[in-house]
Amino acid sequence: MSACTYTASFEGAQAHPVQVQVQLTGGTPAFIIVGLADKAVGESRERVRAAFAAIGLAIPSKRVIINLAPADRPKEGSHYDLPIAIGLMAAMGVLPPEAAQEWLAMGELGLDGSIAPVPGLLPGAMLAHGQGYGFICGAKGGAEAAWAGGDVGLLAPASLIQLVNHFKGRQVLTRPVPGDMIEGAVYKDLRDVRGQETAKRALEIAAAGGHNLLFVGPPGAGKSMLAERLPGILPPLSAQELLDVSTIQSVAGLLDQGRLTRQRPFRAPHHSASMAALVGGGNRIRPGEVSLAHNGVLFLDELPEFHPQVLDSLRQPLESGQAVIARANGRFSYPARFQLIAAMNPCRCGWAGENGEACARGAKCAETYQARVSGPLMDRIDLQLDIPPVTAADLALPPSAEGTAEVAARVLAARAIQDERGCLNAQLSGDLLDRYARPDEAGAQLLNQAAQHMGLSARGYHRVLRVARTLADLEGGESVRRIHIAEALSNRRAKAKGQAIARPLGFVG
Ligand SMILES: Nc1ncnc2c1ncn2[C@@H]1O[C@H](COP(=O)(O)OP(=O)(O)O)[C@@H](O)[C@H]1O
Ligand SMILES: [Mg+2]
Repeated sequence: MSACTYTASFEGAQAHPVQVQVQLTGGTPAFIIVGLADKAVGESRERVRAAFAAIGLAIPSKRVIINLAPADRPKEGSHYDLPIAIGLMAAMGVLPPEAAQEWLAMGELGLDGSIAPVPGLLPGAMLAHGQGYGFICGAKGGAEAAWAGGDVGLLAPASLIQLVNHFKGRQVLTRPVPGDMIEGAVYKDLRDVRGQETAKRALEIAAAGGHNLLFVGPPGAGKSMLAERLPGILPPLSAQELLDVSTIQSVAGLLDQGRLTRQRPFRAPHHSASMAALVGGGNRIRPGEVSLAHNGVLFLDELPEFHPQVLDSLRQPLESGQAVIARANGRFSYPARFQLIAAMNPCRCGWAGENGEACARGAKCAETYQARVSGPLMDRIDLQLDIPPVTAADLALPPSAEGTAEVAARVLAARAIQDERGCLNAQLSGDLLDRYARPDEAGAQLLNQAAQHMGLSARGYHRVLRVARTLADLEGGESVRRIHIAEALSNRRAKAKGQAIARPLGFVG
């Protein structure tokens, strides 16, 4: 007596089909699961046994062998319970063979025979759809799985007994409907920020070109306030981006009631975050903050307070757009193309370089504090900006005429130009940078002069070009002109604030 059914295994956010082969043979009674299964999968045996008992089914006293094929792909998680139970019921003749063969199932069984939702239902259902199988998951996961669409079957029974009744025609299950789509989120408005025009402009440039951005300034200058207003000026997710973001959220188990949102992710992990929390991994492989921020923003407030090693682990995802997690049983990668926004005080006391507000420990304070952020990480931040403290006069200003809506419209237009090129300006390099960001004669001349006078490194030179390209796009201009180069050069930290600040950070431009 044998049967087979399907389920999925995950490598990062990628779902792969797994065939669940069940065989009942004579010999010493046993219940064996083979096929590179981890501990949670091994525990399936006990849950399946208890769930069967709960619905009045006894596992025959035979040798039960479950093979999860292909055997060389690691299997993690508790979602193998349901397909194992379905395969076993088919082998026992409780379910017709096609109830197993034509379906891909994911679900965790309770001891009472209930079926609980598990992470990864959205990519699982899409895999089933792509392979022409129907999809079965727990009732509470139905709204999420229904987003996979398609005309293949979709069942979301609350318990094993409901599933059996459905296939026996006693109580037919209705197809679940997709969860809600949250279209317009409410954002904090940029209008709330008084003064700080340079910083607001930098935020707009960063949003338009996808540039990484660092704010350096004393406490209370409005750094966190500005960063929180970035998601509002970013364009909503495109259909493909929405799919990618939702897939990662599904794998992380964060899609509550199958609700999707077009809002760009904004993740702000605390500075005590571990490397596993930030980049992914840990006991059970889960996407980290960098992947949850995919297609959106990763905001690191109080940047130097993060553990230096944790910060350096960001370099690889920043470079490649992938978070790679190496494990004894293989390498996994999650997409992680995010925009980094960071904020920091210039020194631990927060007041280095400010007139009248003495930093208690002098230049050394700023130096040691800023040295906690490595040069290579700084190198990947296109826009680095000093923010002055807000003055009482600034705070007394009326709200500015321009708010989030106006800035967002310009950002959207600038992004549309980049969409045609197929690449955000922040990601321009090599050939593409040559092709799209070549300045006109006067611009090139200014850049060369600046390079000589300011001792621009090759990286600094490219950063100026990328930012200048974004400035031209914001204007809707074809070519990068002198005025764009000039503004890009001005978007750098002021040297006058004292060597202690200047030295470890380097400059944009
Ligand atoms: N430019 C500003 N306009 C209006 N309010 C401001 C401004 N800057 C700071 N504030 C006020 O000060 C508070 C602290 O700002 P915050 O962004 O947390 O400062 P930082 O992160 O630079 O230490 C804000 O919640 C806001 O009420
Ligand atoms: Mg702050």
